[in-house]
Amino acid sequence: MFKYPVAEPEIGEEELRNVIEAVRSGWVSSKGEFIEKFEGSFSKYIDVKYGVATSNGTTALHLALAALGISSGDEVIVPDLTFAATINAVLYVGAKPVIVDVDQNYWCLDPAEIKRAITPHTKVIIPVHLYGHPCEMEAIMEVAERYGLYIIEDAAEAHGAEYKGRKVGSFSHIACFSFYGNKIITTGEGGMCLTNDDELAEKMRILRDHGMNPKKRYWHDIIGFNYRMTNIQAALGVAQLNKIDKLIEKKRKIAKSYADGLSSVEGITLHPEMPWAKCVYWLYSILIDYKKLGITRDELSEKLENNGIETRKFFYPLHEMPLYQKYAKLSHIISSKISHMGLSLPSGTKLTEEDISYIIRKMKETISTR
Ligand SMILES: Cc1ncc(COP(=O)(O)O)c(C=O)c1O
Repeated sequence: MFKYPVAEPEIGEEELRNVIEAVRSGWVSSKGEFIEKFEGSFSKYIDVKYGVATSNGTTALHLALAALGISSGDEVIVPDLTFAATINAVLYVGAKPVIVDVDQNYWCLDPAEIKRAITPHTKVIIPVHLYGHPCEMEAIMEVAERYGLYIIEDAAEAHGAEYKGRKVGSFSHIACFSFYGNKIITTGEGGMCLTNDDELAEKMRILRDHGMNPKKRYWHDIIGFNYRMTNIQAALGVAQLNKIDKLIEKKRKIAKSYADGLSSVEGITLHPEMPWAKCVYWLYSILIDYKKLGITRDELSEKLENNGIETRKFFYPLHEMPLYQKYAKLSHIISSKISHMGLSLPSGTKLTEEDISYIIRKMKETISTR
Protein backbone atom coordinates (compact mmCIF):
# COMPACT_ATOMS: atom_id res chain seq x y z
CA MET A 1 0.00 0.00 0.00
CA PHE A 2 1.51 3.31 -1.09
CA LYS A 3 0.43 6.79 -0.09
CA TYR A 4 0.86 7.84 -3.73
CA PRO A 5 -0.40 4.96 -5.88
CA VAL A 6 0.23 4.57 -9.60
CA ALA A 7 -3.52 4.20 -10.15
CA GLU A 8 -6.64 4.27 -8.01
CA PRO A 9 -10.31 4.07 -8.96
CA GLU A 10 -12.60 7.00 -8.16
CA ILE A 11 -15.81 5.45 -6.91
CA GLY A 12 -18.52 7.84 -5.76
CA GLU A 13 -22.13 7.97 -4.57
CA GLU A 14 -23.63 7.37 -8.02
CA GLU A 15 -21.63 4.16 -8.38
CA LEU A 16 -22.86 3.03 -4.96
CA ARG A 17 -26.47 3.87 -5.79
CA ASN A 18 -26.33 1.99 -9.10
CA VAL A 19 -24.72 -1.09 -7.57
CA ILE A 20 -27.28 -1.17 -4.76
CA GLU A 21 -30.06 -0.82 -7.33
CA ALA A 22 -28.63 -3.71 -9.38
CA VAL A 23 -28.29 -5.94 -6.32
CA ARG A 24 -31.77 -5.04 -5.01
CA SER A 25 -33.31 -5.75 -8.42
CA GLY A 26 -32.16 -9.36 -8.13
CA TRP A 27 -30.54 -9.12 -11.58
CA VAL A 28 -27.07 -9.87 -10.33
CA SER A 29 -25.79 -12.01 -13.21
CA SER A 30 -25.59 -11.13 -16.88
CA LYS A 31 -29.18 -10.01 -17.48
CA GLY A 32 -30.45 -6.64 -16.37
CA GLU A 33 -31.00 -3.11 -17.54
CA PHE A 34 -27.54 -1.79 -16.72
CA ILE A 35 -25.82 -4.04 -19.25
CA GLU A 36 -27.61 -2.65 -22.28
CA LYS A 37 -27.36 0.84 -20.83
CA PHE A 38 -23.60 0.52 -20.42
CA GLU A 39 -23.09 -1.06 -23.85
CA GLY A 40 -25.20 1.65 -25.44
CA SER A 41 -23.65 4.60 -23.66
CA PHE A 42 -20.02 3.46 -23.98
CA SER A 43 -20.32 2.65 -27.70
CA LYS A 44 -21.98 6.05 -28.20
CA TYR A 45 -19.15 7.75 -26.29
CA ILE A 46 -16.55 6.19 -28.60
CA ASP A 47 -18.88 6.72 -31.60
CA VAL A 48 -19.22 3.09 -32.66
CA LYS A 49 -22.52 1.34 -33.45
CA TYR A 50 -22.41 -1.70 -31.15
CA GLY A 51 -20.96 -2.55 -27.75
CA VAL A 52 -20.61 -6.12 -26.50
CA ALA A 53 -19.68 -6.10 -22.81
CA THR A 54 -17.38 -8.88 -21.58
CA SER A 55 -16.02 -10.25 -18.34
CA ASN A 56 -12.65 -8.50 -18.86
CA GLY A 57 -10.35 -7.01 -21.50
CA THR A 58 -8.57 -10.29 -22.18
CA THR A 59 -11.82 -12.10 -22.98
CA ALA A 60 -12.76 -9.14 -25.20
CA LEU A 61 -9.59 -9.72 -27.25
CA HIS A 62 -10.24 -13.47 -27.44
CA LEU A 63 -13.87 -12.87 -28.45
CA ALA A 64 -12.79 -10.44 -31.20
CA LEU A 65 -10.29 -12.89 -32.69
CA ALA A 66 -12.77 -15.77 -32.46
CA ALA A 67 -15.54 -13.71 -34.12
CA LEU A 68 -13.22 -12.89 -37.02
CA GLY A 69 -12.57 -16.62 -37.43
CA ILE A 70 -8.85 -16.38 -36.74
CA SER A 71 -7.30 -19.78 -36.11
CA SER A 72 -4.25 -21.97 -36.73
CA GLY A 73 -2.31 -21.10 -39.84
CA ASP A 74 -3.15 -17.39 -39.45
CA GLU A 75 -0.63 -14.77 -38.37
CA VAL A 76 -1.47 -11.82 -36.14
CA ILE A 77 0.80 -8.80 -35.74
CA VAL A 78 1.23 -7.55 -32.17
CA PRO A 79 3.56 -4.90 -30.71
CA ASP A 80 6.57 -6.00 -28.68
CA LEU A 81 5.69 -3.52 -25.95
CA THR A 82 2.32 -4.43 -24.46
CA PHE A 83 0.69 -6.37 -21.65
CA ALA A 84 0.83 -10.13 -22.25
CA ALA A 85 -2.97 -10.38 -22.69
CA THR A 86 -2.57 -9.06 -26.25
CA ILE A 87 -0.36 -11.92 -27.38
CA ASN A 88 -2.04 -14.54 -25.18
CA ALA A 89 -5.38 -13.94 -26.90
CA VAL A 90 -3.73 -14.71 -30.24
CA LEU A 91 -2.38 -17.95 -28.81
CA TYR A 92 -5.83 -18.90 -27.39
CA VAL A 93 -7.21 -19.15 -30.97
CA GLY A 94 -4.20 -21.17 -32.12
CA ALA A 95 -2.88 -18.46 -34.44
CA LYS A 96 0.76 -17.38 -34.70
CA PRO A 97 1.64 -14.02 -33.16
CA VAL A 98 4.26 -11.97 -35.00
CA ILE A 99 5.98 -9.55 -32.66
CA VAL A 100 6.80 -6.16 -34.16
CA ASP A 101 8.85 -3.23 -32.88
CA VAL A 102 7.42 0.11 -31.74
CA ASP A 103 8.03 3.73 -32.70
CA GLN A 104 10.62 5.44 -30.53
CA ASN A 105 8.69 8.71 -30.30
CA TYR A 106 5.36 7.45 -28.98
CA TRP A 107 6.10 3.82 -27.99
CA CYS A 108 3.30 2.16 -30.06
CA LEU A 109 3.38 -0.20 -33.04
CA ASP A 110 5.61 1.18 -35.82
CA PRO A 111 3.68 1.18 -39.15
CA ALA A 112 6.91 0.82 -41.17
CA GLU A 113 7.83 -2.31 -39.19
CA ILE A 114 4.35 -3.78 -39.74
CA LYS A 115 4.99 -3.81 -43.51
CA ARG A 116 8.16 -5.86 -42.99
CA ALA A 117 6.26 -8.42 -40.94
CA ILE A 118 3.46 -9.14 -43.43
CA THR A 119 3.37 -12.58 -45.09
CA PRO A 120 0.66 -14.34 -47.12
CA HIS A 121 -0.60 -15.75 -43.79
CA THR A 122 -1.11 -12.39 -42.05
CA LYS A 123 -4.76 -11.78 -41.15
CA VAL A 124 -4.89 -9.24 -38.33
CA ILE A 125 -2.96 -6.28 -36.92
CA ILE A 126 -3.50 -5.48 -33.24
CA PRO A 127 -2.36 -1.92 -32.51
CA VAL A 128 -2.15 -1.22 -28.77
CA HIS A 129 -2.67 2.38 -27.63
CA LEU A 130 -0.01 2.11 -24.96
CA TYR A 131 -0.22 4.00 -21.66
CA GLY A 132 -3.00 6.16 -23.14
CA HIS A 133 -1.24 7.32 -26.32
CA PRO A 134 -2.90 6.53 -29.65
CA CYS A 135 -1.24 4.61 -32.45
CA GLU A 136 -0.63 6.18 -35.87
CA MET A 137 -3.98 4.90 -37.13
CA GLU A 138 -3.97 6.36 -40.67
CA ALA A 139 -0.73 4.63 -41.54
CA ILE A 140 -1.88 1.36 -39.93
CA MET A 141 -5.23 1.48 -41.75
CA GLU A 142 -3.46 2.11 -45.04
CA VAL A 143 -1.34 -1.03 -44.59
CA ALA A 144 -4.39 -3.04 -43.51
CA GLU A 145 -6.39 -1.93 -46.54
CA ARG A 146 -3.57 -2.58 -48.95
CA TYR A 147 -3.08 -6.14 -47.72
CA GLY A 148 -6.73 -6.89 -46.87
CA LEU A 149 -6.13 -7.32 -43.15
CA TYR A 150 -8.39 -6.91 -40.14
CA ILE A 151 -7.54 -4.43 -37.40
CA ILE A 152 -8.39 -5.12 -33.76
CA GLU A 153 -7.56 -2.10 -31.64
CA ASP A 154 -6.40 -2.96 -28.13
CA ALA A 155 -7.66 0.17 -26.40
CA ALA A 156 -7.49 -1.30 -22.89
CA GLU A 157 -5.38 1.65 -21.72
CA ALA A 158 -6.79 4.48 -23.80
CA HIS A 159 -10.49 5.24 -23.20
CA GLY A 160 -11.16 8.67 -24.67
CA ALA A 161 -7.76 9.09 -26.37
CA GLU A 162 -7.98 10.64 -29.83
CA TYR A 163 -6.19 10.30 -33.14
CA LYS A 164 -6.70 13.41 -35.31
CA GLY A 165 -9.80 14.37 -33.31
CA ARG A 166 -11.45 10.95 -33.48
CA LYS A 167 -11.60 8.60 -30.52
CA VAL A 168 -9.50 5.45 -30.55
CA GLY A 169 -11.65 2.36 -30.73
CA SER A 170 -13.53 3.79 -33.72
CA PHE A 171 -10.92 2.92 -36.36
CA SER A 172 -11.02 -0.85 -36.45
CA HIS A 173 -13.19 -3.84 -37.32
CA ILE A 174 -13.35 -4.56 -33.58
CA ALA A 175 -11.93 -2.53 -30.69
CA CYS A 176 -11.34 -4.00 -27.23
CA PHE A 177 -11.42 -2.13 -23.93
CA SER A 178 -10.66 -3.14 -20.35
CA PHE A 179 -12.42 -1.83 -17.24
CA TYR A 180 -10.02 -3.33 -14.70
CA GLY A 181 -9.72 -1.37 -11.44
CA ASN A 182 -6.66 0.62 -12.53
CA LYS A 183 -8.07 1.72 -15.89
CA ILE A 184 -9.45 5.16 -16.89
CA ILE A 185 -12.92 3.93 -15.91
CA THR A 186 -13.64 0.67 -14.12
CA THR A 187 -16.29 -1.97 -13.58
CA GLY A 188 -14.06 -3.92 -11.16
CA GLU A 189 -13.23 -6.53 -13.77
CA GLY A 190 -14.76 -6.01 -17.18
CA GLY A 191 -14.26 -5.33 -20.85
CA MET A 192 -16.05 -4.46 -24.07
CA CYS A 193 -15.79 -5.14 -27.79
CA LEU A 194 -16.97 -2.36 -30.09
CA THR A 195 -17.84 -2.78 -33.76
CA ASN A 196 -19.80 -1.07 -36.52
CA ASP A 197 -20.46 -4.41 -38.21
CA ASP A 198 -23.93 -5.93 -37.60
CA GLU A 199 -22.79 -9.51 -38.21
CA LEU A 200 -19.69 -9.28 -36.05
CA ALA A 201 -21.72 -7.79 -33.20
CA GLU A 202 -24.23 -10.64 -33.42
CA LYS A 203 -21.47 -13.25 -33.63
CA MET A 204 -19.71 -11.83 -30.57
CA ARG A 205 -22.99 -11.84 -28.60
CA ILE A 206 -23.51 -15.50 -29.44
CA LEU A 207 -19.90 -16.51 -28.73
CA ARG A 208 -20.01 -14.61 -25.42
CA ASP A 209 -23.04 -16.64 -24.38
CA HIS A 210 -21.81 -20.24 -24.85
CA GLY A 211 -22.44 -20.15 -28.60
CA MET A 212 -26.14 -20.57 -27.87
CA ASN A 213 -28.57 -20.01 -30.73
CA PRO A 214 -30.41 -16.76 -29.79
CA LYS A 215 -33.65 -18.04 -31.33
CA LYS A 216 -33.49 -21.54 -29.88
CA ARG A 217 -32.45 -21.74 -26.23
CA TYR A 218 -29.96 -24.46 -25.30
CA TRP A 219 -29.26 -25.21 -28.94
CA HIS A 220 -25.59 -24.75 -29.83
CA ASP A 221 -24.29 -24.32 -33.37
CA ILE A 222 -20.81 -23.14 -32.42
CA ILE A 223 -18.48 -23.62 -29.47
CA GLY A 224 -18.78 -20.48 -27.39
CA PHE A 225 -17.59 -19.14 -24.06
CA ASN A 226 -19.08 -17.60 -20.97
CA TYR A 227 -17.53 -14.14 -21.31
CA ARG A 228 -20.53 -12.13 -20.11
CA MET A 229 -20.38 -9.03 -17.92
CA THR A 230 -22.65 -8.94 -14.87
CA ASN A 231 -25.37 -6.35 -14.30
CA ILE A 232 -23.52 -5.30 -11.11
CA GLN A 233 -20.35 -4.56 -13.08
CA ALA A 234 -22.34 -2.66 -15.70
CA ALA A 235 -24.08 -0.65 -12.96
CA LEU A 236 -20.66 0.54 -11.83
CA GLY A 237 -19.70 1.24 -15.45
CA VAL A 238 -22.75 3.42 -16.14
CA ALA A 239 -21.84 5.72 -13.24
CA GLN A 240 -18.15 5.74 -14.17
CA LEU A 241 -18.94 6.73 -17.73
CA ASN A 242 -20.79 9.81 -16.47
CA LYS A 243 -17.49 11.11 -15.08
CA ILE A 244 -15.09 9.94 -17.80
CA ASP A 245 -14.46 13.41 -19.24
CA LYS A 246 -13.64 14.78 -15.79
CA LEU A 247 -11.28 11.85 -15.12
CA ILE A 248 -9.48 12.40 -18.43
CA GLU A 249 -9.23 16.13 -17.78
CA LYS A 250 -7.65 15.32 -14.41
CA LYS A 251 -5.20 12.86 -16.00
CA ARG A 252 -4.16 15.53 -18.49
CA LYS A 253 -3.73 18.07 -15.70
CA ILE A 254 -1.50 15.67 -13.78
CA ALA A 255 0.50 15.11 -16.98
CA LYS A 256 0.96 18.84 -17.43
CA SER A 257 2.20 19.23 -13.86
CA TYR A 258 4.73 16.42 -14.31
CA ALA A 259 5.84 17.88 -17.64
CA ASP A 260 6.25 21.38 -16.14
CA GLY A 261 8.15 20.01 -13.16
CA LEU A 262 10.43 17.56 -14.95
CA SER A 263 11.07 19.13 -18.36
CA SER A 264 14.28 20.80 -17.17
CA VAL A 265 15.78 17.56 -15.86
CA GLU A 266 18.40 16.31 -18.31
CA GLY A 267 18.10 12.56 -18.71
CA ILE A 268 14.34 12.35 -18.39
CA THR A 269 12.18 11.97 -21.51
CA LEU A 270 8.62 13.07 -20.80
CA HIS A 271 5.49 11.14 -21.73
CA PRO A 272 4.96 11.96 -25.41
CA GLU A 273 1.95 13.49 -27.07
CA MET A 274 2.34 13.57 -30.85
CA PRO A 275 0.87 16.58 -32.72
CA TRP A 276 -1.90 14.33 -34.10
CA ALA A 277 -2.74 12.83 -30.72
CA LYS A 278 -4.80 13.49 -27.65
CA CYS A 279 -3.16 11.31 -25.03
CA VAL A 280 -5.15 10.35 -21.94
CA TYR A 281 -2.01 9.54 -19.91
CA TRP A 282 -3.51 6.38 -18.41
CA LEU A 283 -0.21 6.13 -16.54
CA TYR A 284 2.09 9.14 -16.78
CA SER A 285 5.31 7.55 -17.95
CA ILE A 286 8.87 8.72 -18.47
CA LEU A 287 12.13 7.35 -19.85
CA ILE A 288 15.25 7.45 -17.71
CA ASP A 289 18.68 7.88 -19.32
CA TYR A 290 20.85 6.76 -16.43
CA LYS A 291 24.08 8.00 -18.02
CA LYS A 292 22.76 11.55 -18.06
CA LEU A 293 20.78 11.28 -14.84
CA GLY A 294 23.46 9.48 -12.80
CA ILE A 295 20.90 7.08 -11.36
CA THR A 296 19.34 3.99 -12.88
CA ARG A 297 15.64 3.61 -13.36
CA ASP A 298 15.54 0.78 -10.85
CA GLU A 299 17.41 2.78 -8.21
CA LEU A 300 15.12 5.76 -8.71
CA SER A 301 12.07 3.52 -8.46
CA GLU A 302 13.33 1.93 -5.22
CA LYS A 303 14.11 5.30 -3.62
CA LEU A 304 10.72 6.72 -4.53
CA GLU A 305 8.94 3.66 -3.21
CA ASN A 306 10.79 4.10 0.09
CA ASN A 307 9.04 7.48 0.26
CA GLY A 308 5.58 6.03 -0.30
CA ILE A 309 5.62 6.84 -4.02
CA GLU A 310 4.58 3.86 -6.08
CA THR A 311 6.14 3.48 -9.53
CA ARG A 312 5.74 0.86 -12.23
CA LYS A 313 8.48 -0.31 -14.57
CA PHE A 314 7.44 -0.68 -18.22
CA PHE A 315 6.27 -4.03 -19.57
CA TYR A 316 9.12 -6.37 -20.49
CA PRO A 317 9.33 -6.59 -24.26
CA LEU A 318 7.49 -9.77 -25.26
CA HIS A 319 10.46 -11.03 -27.30
CA GLU A 320 12.67 -11.21 -24.19
CA MET A 321 10.44 -13.76 -22.47
CA PRO A 322 11.35 -17.36 -23.38
CA LEU A 323 7.62 -18.10 -23.65
CA TYR A 324 7.21 -15.74 -26.60
CA GLN A 325 10.75 -15.61 -28.05
CA LYS A 326 9.95 -17.79 -31.03
CA TYR A 327 7.39 -15.29 -32.33
CA ALA A 328 10.00 -12.55 -32.66
CA LYS A 329 12.01 -12.75 -35.85
CA LEU A 330 12.47 -9.09 -36.68
CA SER A 331 14.44 -6.29 -35.01
CA HIS A 332 13.26 -5.15 -31.57
CA ILE A 333 15.87 -2.56 -30.74
CA ILE A 334 13.49 0.28 -29.91
CA SER A 335 11.12 -1.70 -27.70
CA SER A 336 14.08 -3.17 -25.76
CA LYS A 337 15.50 0.29 -25.17
CA ILE A 338 12.20 1.87 -24.15
CA SER A 339 11.15 -1.04 -21.96
CA HIS A 340 14.30 -0.87 -19.86
CA MET A 341 14.24 2.93 -19.54
CA GLY A 342 10.51 3.30 -18.85
CA LEU A 343 8.92 4.15 -15.53
CA SER A 344 5.29 5.03 -14.81
CA LEU A 345 4.61 7.54 -12.03
CA PRO A 346 1.60 7.96 -9.72
CA SER A 347 -1.29 8.90 -12.01
CA GLY A 348 -4.41 8.31 -9.90
CA THR A 349 -7.05 11.00 -10.32
CA LYS A 350 -7.37 11.45 -6.56
CA LEU A 351 -3.85 12.92 -6.39
CA THR A 352 -3.78 16.64 -5.65
CA GLU A 353 -1.51 19.34 -7.11
CA GLU A 354 0.40 19.23 -3.81
CA ASP A 355 0.86 15.48 -4.13
CA ILE A 356 2.34 15.84 -7.62
CA SER A 357 4.63 18.69 -6.42
CA TYR A 358 5.81 16.45 -3.57
CA ILE A 359 6.53 13.58 -5.99
CA ILE A 360 8.46 15.87 -8.35
CA ARG A 361 10.42 17.32 -5.41
CA LYS A 362 11.32 13.83 -4.15
CA MET A 363 12.40 12.81 -7.65
CA LYS A 364 14.65 15.84 -7.99
CA GLU A 365 16.11 15.35 -4.50
CA THR A 366 16.83 11.69 -5.22
CA ILE A 367 18.50 12.56 -8.50
CA SER A 368 20.61 15.41 -7.11
CA THR A 369 21.88 13.41 -4.12
CA ARG A 370 23.40 10.79 -6.41
C1 LIG B 1 -2.83 -3.39 -23.36
C2 LIG B 1 -3.72 -4.30 -22.58
N1 LIG B 1 -4.45 -5.23 -23.21
C3 LIG B 1 -5.28 -6.04 -22.55
C4 LIG B 1 -5.43 -5.98 -21.18
C5 LIG B 1 -6.31 -6.96 -20.50
O1 LIG B 1 -7.35 -6.42 -19.80
P1 LIG B 1 -7.96 -7.16 -18.50
O2 LIG B 1 -6.98 -7.00 -17.40
O3 LIG B 1 -9.25 -6.46 -18.26
O4 LIG B 1 -8.17 -8.60 -18.87
C6 LIG B 1 -4.69 -5.01 -20.48
C7 LIG B 1 -4.77 -4.83 -19.04
O5 LIG B 1 -5.06 -5.05 -18.13
C8 LIG B 1 -3.82 -4.16 -21.18
O6 LIG B 1 -3.10 -3.24 -20.54
